[in-house]
Amino acid sequence: MSEPKDKPTAPAHARTRRHSVTTEVPAESIEIVPVDENPRKNEHLRVALDARVERPGRGNGLSAYQFDPQSLPELDLDQVDTSCIVLGKRLSAPLLVGAMTGGTAQAGAVNRVLATAAELCGVGFCLGSQRAMLDLAGDHVRSFAMREVAPTTLLLGNIGAIQLRDHLSGKDLERLALAVGADGMMVHLNPLQEAIQPEGDRDWRGVYDALGDVAASCGLPVLVKEVGAGLSATSLNRLKLLGIAGVETAGVGGTSWSYIEALRHRGRTPQAIAGEVLADFGTCTADSLQLARVAFANRVVIASGGLRNGLEVAKCMALGASACAMAAPFLQAATVGVEAVVTEILGVIETLRITMFLVGAPDVHQLGQTPLVRTASCTPR
Ligand SMILES: Cc1cc2nc3c(=O)[nH]c(=O)nc-3n(C[C@H](O)[C@H](O)[C@H](O)COP(=O)(O)O)c2cc1C
Repeated sequence: MSEPKDKPTAPAHARTRRHSVTTEVPAESIEIVPVDENPRKNEHLRVALDARVERPGRGNGLSAYQFDPQSLPELDLDQVDTSCIVLGKRLSAPLLVGAMTGGTAQAGAVNRVLATAAELCGVGFCLGSQRAMLDLAGDHVRSFAMREVAPTTLLLGNIGAIQLRDHLSGKDLERLALAVGADGMMVHLNPLQEAIQPEGDRDWRGVYDALGDVAASCGLPVLVKEVGAGLSATSLNRLKLLGIAGVETAGVGGTSWSYIEALRHRGRTPQAIAGEVLADFGTCTADSLQLARVAFANRVVIASGGLRNGLEVAKCMALGASACAMAAPFLQAATVGVEAVVTEILGVIETLRITMFLVGAPDVHQLGQTPLVRTASCTPR
């Protein structure tokens, strides 16, 4: 990986709302290579860049929904307002860069690129698991210290539910957020991933009660997310009883952690076989989102899991999302640099804006009231 050089520039329209970012970020592409400091983290990044971990087979469920286009929109495209407020922060669009990484120098470089682009575009940014801040020696805070490059935008911290159960009180979780300047914490539920992971945690007893205790005593918003298997009706109906601020679906249809862990076995092991079979196991994003909106009527519902463009973001908003998160698509661009990520984010926002125009929705609130037509078939996108 190269040394940080000049700060990148984003297109003028990306900087309409934001100040320029002065902190240095890597100007050249990032090569993800295995290193000793935390091999699993870098291996996750490397395997996640493999196209096979996308699961188009079942799809995210959104292709079954279509807008009814307006050929007479009666709107000025340039006046269409994609902005929204999530957890008290105004975003230029209902979009977050999904939780991915941290804990190694390479992961920190990826985070810096992603966070810089998020700030420039005015969208939210989610850190990957901060587990390294709990159980590894050394200065692992740096790879999560993104307020240097993203001083104003919505920033969410992240920790696994198992680490929370085993190590954290509500006040500890708050400290973990404050150490990185996060506006709130995401707690991820990943029992499928852990079951397939060679070194995974297999004992999930006591997680629900721990979540309830921690959420009740943490002074910052706590959200609960899946990592690609989707939150089901049963899980959502239990989670809604806890004092959490909201959920992120991370439904089936995108990155499959079951499959990523299966690939990490490098050969045919019983766990690898299970990982392949269960690669699509869970609740697809379109279903998980609608179930989440019912269960969490007035709380934050972030749609994610296989969202790949602004049309899918628009559909999720019409199906009740407060905002959407995309992870893997931005990782690919992050290996190229900040400008590549900015281009991808702006592409999503522009597609969202044009879709809103074409369905006659002048703002995100109206988009949320726009009906979608359910088509007969649910085919992959
Ligand atoms: C490389 C990579 C690392 C990830 N690490 C985390 C993590 O540390 N914590 C977490 O909650 N989710 C993590 N995720 C899951 C994503 O946040 C997201 O829920 C999932 O990938 C589905 O979104 P996608 O299909 O847009 O990738 C990771 C995803 C990727 C691709």
